[in-house]
Formats: sequence, structure tokens, C-alpha cells
Amino acid sequence: MTGKERAIEDMSDNEARRELGRLVKEISTHDEAYYQNDSPIISDGEYDILRQRNLAIEAIFPNLIREDSPSNKIGAALSTGFSKVHHARPMLSLSNLFSEDDLRDFLAGIRRFLKELTDDPDIELEFLAEPKIDGLSITLRYEYGFFVSAATRGDGSTGEDVTENIRTLKDLPIKLGGFVPDVVEIRGEIYLTKSDFDELNRRQSIKGDKVFANPRNAAAGSLRQLDATITALRPLKLFAYAWGELSEPVGITQWSFLEQLQVWGFEVNPLTRLCDDFISLIEAYKNIYEQRASLDYDIDGVVYKVNRLDWQERLGFVSRAPRWATAHKFPAERAQTIINRIDIQVGRTGSLTPVAKLTAVTVGGVVVSNATLHNEDEIARKDVRIGDTVLIQRAGDVIPQVVEVVIDKRSKNSTPFEYPKVCPACGADAVRDEGEVVRRCTGGLICPAQVVERFKHFVSRGAFDIDGFGNKHVEAFFEEGLIKTTVDIFRLKDHEFELKGSEGWGDKSVEKLLAAINDRRNITLDRFIFSLGIRQIGQANARLLAKHYISIEALRMAMVAASVIGSEAFEDLNNIDGIGPSVANDLIIFFNNNINQALLDDFDTQINIQKFNVPKDNSSPIAGKTIVFTGTLELVTRGEAKVRAEQLGAKVSGSVSKRTDIVVAGQGAGSKAKKATELGLNLLSETQWLELIDGS
Ligand code: IVH
Repeated sequence: MTGKERAIEDMSDNEARRELGRLVKEISTHDEAYYQNDSPIISDGEYDILRQRNLAIEAIFPNLIREDSPSNKIGAALSTGFSKVHHARPMLSLSNLFSEDDLRDFLAGIRRFLKELTDDPDIELEFLAEPKIDGLSITLRYEYGFFVSAATRGDGSTGEDVTENIRTLKDLPIKLGGFVPDVVEIRGEIYLTKSDFDELNRRQSIKGDKVFANPRNAAAGSLRQLDATITALRPLKLFAYAWGELSEPVGITQWSFLEQLQVWGFEVNPLTRLCDDFISLIEAYKNIYEQRASLDYDIDGVVYKVNRLDWQERLGFVSRAPRWATAHKFPAERAQTIINRIDIQVGRTGSLTPVAKLTAVTVGGVVVSNATLHNEDEIARKDVRIGDTVLIQRAGDVIPQVVEVVIDKRSKNSTPFEYPKVCPACGADAVRDEGEVVRRCTGGLICPAQVVERFKHFVSRGAFDIDGFGNKHVEAFFEEGLIKTTVDIFRLKDHEFELKGSEGWGDKSVEKLLAAINDRRNITLDRFIFSLGIRQIGQANARLLAKHYISIEALRMAMVAASVIGSEAFEDLNNIDGIGPSVANDLIIFFNNNINQALLDDFDTQINIQKFNVPKDNSSPIAGKTIVFTGTLELVTRGEAKVRAEQLGAKVSGSVSKRTDIVVAGQGAGSKAKKATELGLNLLSETQWLELIDGS
């Protein structure tokens, strides 16, 4: 339900007819923007609300269903036609920071991690500060000095093969001279200059073709052309700044690596500076920020990178971002506009999220027509009303936010927004648990919005990543009753004949989709856990669980056992570094629910969930072992010791039990070391520990 929209039950035949007509037009505009032009105007959630409204009206007024109704079409574009490339080294993202205080914390965190820097505050920690280019990341592979392939970032593990498109770049070195490792992957950012973007849009509009919203979208649209001759007409450029797979090291500092890149003929950003303390980093940041408007390419922050590569190596990664680098984002850009509607979206766990539908406005070069209002309390606190003029802000890729209402511009007859107490999708009560800010639909499995959102999550990139299984498929298959649970996706092949016969579906596309589904019958445990859509279990937590429990069977058994508070399994779960009590509680609830257990049993009949891959490194004497560090370590910090142990395939736990294999006792170790002795565990000093892993 949306603010001013008429409740469907109250509609007359005429109103319903008019509304269905309006929805057909609006949905088809968005279909075109999404499928043909690669540039959606609204979010998937907003699109879904339109489709749901259309379906809901049709359900009440079946005699008014139009021939051109969106519910009669599936019409989704299938796979893009680019082949997939697995990245030998994942393409990571960067953590963000927004203030000088955040930067202080970032620097302190690195110093805390590296023992020598903790012990001696005078040791310099050098960084590079370089612009964060607002483009598309790319990886370029060279073998024996020759360019062989290029791929987009994709989900970080798998990207798309855009070799032929990249070949059309004018400043791409095809052969690297001088010292070149046999295999070297160069990573960087593809972008369009602002002037080339203006010129491209001018040409596009003369031809009556689509104009792009900003240089980044234009670069993306230009790179992802199946016909590389079109890419060739677009003047894409490249800044190189990192590496992927390497057959041998290239330099000992980030700075010397950039010099090597230039020798090979890559463009390196000229604003890059070497900094040795907080003050010089902030100076570099300010300097780049001040130049921002006069640069001919878009940047959205400054990236800081530890200069010493051996320190980078030791610092490693947290989830999918390096500990040795971060992006200092530029402050948000703001603009005024009007709220025309407030829509309520229903998420996969039933959460209701209010979204302000705005009169479109350009904020920092991007057209914004939606902004988040977060939750019911935020709307009340800011007293946001339909028709209000509001200040909105946009920072980087984050969804724009409503900052405040411009009260002077408020109309006299405006009324406070009334937050719905029932779910707009299914009509079930929407309730707020004590202490929670989020109101949730109680419809559970009967709420079509929740179910559809769960399916979407299930097939999404980080989960089963089923190629070509778009939102439109999810809705259509669900509506047709072909998929009632997520396992049913793997039974769609039983409906092949039916699917091929239905309107809007070519035989080829059905075959392609079924093949894509079939391809995913083998899945890693972390992806599988993530796909379940358990509250608070994002990709990082899913990985932690996979790493800890190794197999789905072990995980399920442990979660059932953990339902007894205080049991060993309960303690074990709560001791996983990164899993707090509230997350543990959500996990226990999920895995002990009968419906979920039946679902998991059913999965067993359709897919194979691989065991988590513990690095099978025979040279690592600690692979698969559970280790507890206690007391003060003298030679490395606790943080580094833990990361190193995990890199070598061990699990690090916070408490000693009979399942612990090794206890490393530093200075002043107390009760844990004592317990280890009592249990007869392998108790090592720090030096013995370092000797054990030496050379691994
Ligand atoms: S370094 C391991 N340097 O920002 C770190 N990234 O938010 C690899 N980006 O996916 C990234 N300018 O596409 C790095 N100077 C720069 C960058 C940069 C833009 C992009 C890159 C990355 C994203 C992370």
C-alpha cells in the first residue's frame, strides 16, 4: 500500500480499470529500462511492489485483466552472453571510512595488529593515498608478457569475460616489456572522462538513443556490449592500481609496484601520494577533494594503502576487504525535492521498510527518485509527510537518505504519515517486538512478498547465483504455483514441457534456465547457509559457520544440540569469534523449526552441499585443529596470531574444552592454561607455537 494510493478493496470497477492501465504502462517502462537499457530507474523492491499491486487488483477484479497485463508475460532477459571467468585471486572490495576519527581508528587498528608497530610507536607506517575512481573494476591477465584476457569483477570470485571489449581500449598495453613475471594480472578501474561522457550522450540523443545517467553507467553500458565494435566507439580509459595472480613478486612496496606499472605502459593516477602519518594522509585527502571538481573523471573518495607489501601480506583480509587498505569517502551530496508517496516494502524476513518516492532530482551527478526513510520511528522523529519538501543526501553507493523536512515549505493541510499496522502485501498484522525498531509482517509463509523476497535472495549472486533466474521468473513461477519452496527450483525440470508451452518463453531460454539451475546442484556450504536467508546471517557470518562446522550435517546436529542453553554445543556456538548471542539465538530458532528441518531434508534429495574446504596443506601441521590463545603474546599480536592460524587451516576458539587441540600460552596465562593441563591438552609456549608453524 502506498500513501495516496487507493486501497484495492475500496476501488470501483472504473478505478481498478484505470489503475491497471497505469500499472501496465509503468511496469513496461521499467521492464525496458531494466532489460533493454541496462539502467533500472527503480529498485527491484519497488518494481516488485508495482507487480504485486497489479496482481492484487487482478485477483479482486479478474474480469478486468488486460491482454497486455504484466502478469501474462515473463519476458525476462536471460544470460548476458558473456562467459564466466573464475578469478584466481578474488577481486575484493574496500571498507569505508567517513571521518578523521574513523581514520585514526583505522591507523590504530593496523598498529595494534602488527606487534612491532604496537611496541614502537616511532616506527613509521607509510601509506599511499590515491583517488578512488568511480568506474568499474577490471582484471587484465598477461602471460609471458602478452595480454590474454580481461574480466569484470562480478561477485568478486567470478566475473564476465570482456577480453574482446577491453582489446578496443586505446591505452591498453598489449605487450609488457622488460621484467615481466610469466603470469601477471593487473587490476584497475575502467572509466569514461566527463567530457567523453557528455559527447557520448550528445551523440546518443541526436540518434534518439538512450542517454546515460552518469559516466560510470555509461562506462558499464559501453564495456558490457556483446558487440565489441560498439565498445570500440566509446573512449574507455583505464587507471591501473593493483594486481591479482602473480607468478613472482613485483616489488616490495605499493609505490614501487606503481612505478613498475608505468614502466609497462599503464596509466597510474598522477594524484597518488606517499604519506607517513595521519596529518599527511589528511592533507592528501583534502588536496584530492579540492581538485575533485576540476578533474575530468569522477572520483568518490581517497584510498589509503599500506605501502610495505610484506605488511600488506601479514595484515590480510577481513571478510572480502583488505585490512591494509580503506576508502575515505567524500562527504555526502545534498539536494531538495518533494516526497510524492511513501511506499512500504516488505523484506524477506517480513520487515517493513518505508521508501520515499521523490520528484526526481540530480544529486552529485546521479538522478535520485527514491530515498530510504529507515523505519517508522525515523518518520515520526523527522515528522516526514507526503507532499513535504525534504533535504536528501547521497553518499557513494549507499541508498539516498531523507535528512530533514524543509518545514517552511510544508503545505498547511498536510497530515502526519500513518504507518501501516498491517502488511501491505498480505494484510496480516505487522507488529513490533519489544525493543525492536522494525515492524514485521506476521504472515510468514502466507505472505507473498516475504516468500518472493526469499526466493530472490536464494537465487541471488552471493547465494545459489542462478544465471538468468531474474525477479520476474521468481514471481511468475511462484504465482503459477511451480515453486512453493526453494527446493522446488530444482524440480522445475519436471515442468520443462509446460514451461516451453507457455507464452513469452522460447524453448531455448527454458533450456538455458534449466541448465543454469542444474549447474548449481553442487554448492559450497557457506553459500548454502547464506542462501537460507536466516536473520542476521549475511555472507560473512555464513562463512564463519561453514568454517567452524565444516559440513551441513555437523551444523544441523550442533544447532539442535545448542537449543539446550549452557550445553557444550551452545557454548561452542557462542564462542565462535564474530557470532554474538543474538545471532546465535536466530540460528538456533531457525534450525530447530520443524518446517525448516523438513526443508533441509528435502534439499538432501536435490542438491549436494560440499564440505567446507579446509586448506589441505600437508605442510601445515595445524590444519583442521582447534587452537586457543591465552595470556599475552610477546612476538606477534593476538590478532595476527589468530589470522595466521586460520590461514593455515586451524579454528581459533575463545574457550578451552576437550575438543581443543592446542593451547598457546603467552605471558601471564591463567585459568585456560590450567584447564589445558588438567585436560591433558597440547600446551605450547609462544616460541614453540612459532616453531610449529615455521615454514608453513
Ligand atoms: S584497490 C584489494 N584502489 O573501489 C583492494 N580500488 O570499493 C582492491 N577503486 O572494487 C581495490 N579506485 O573497483 C583500489 N585507487 C583504487 C581504486 C579502487 C577505485 C574501486 C575498485 C574496488 C572498489 C572497492
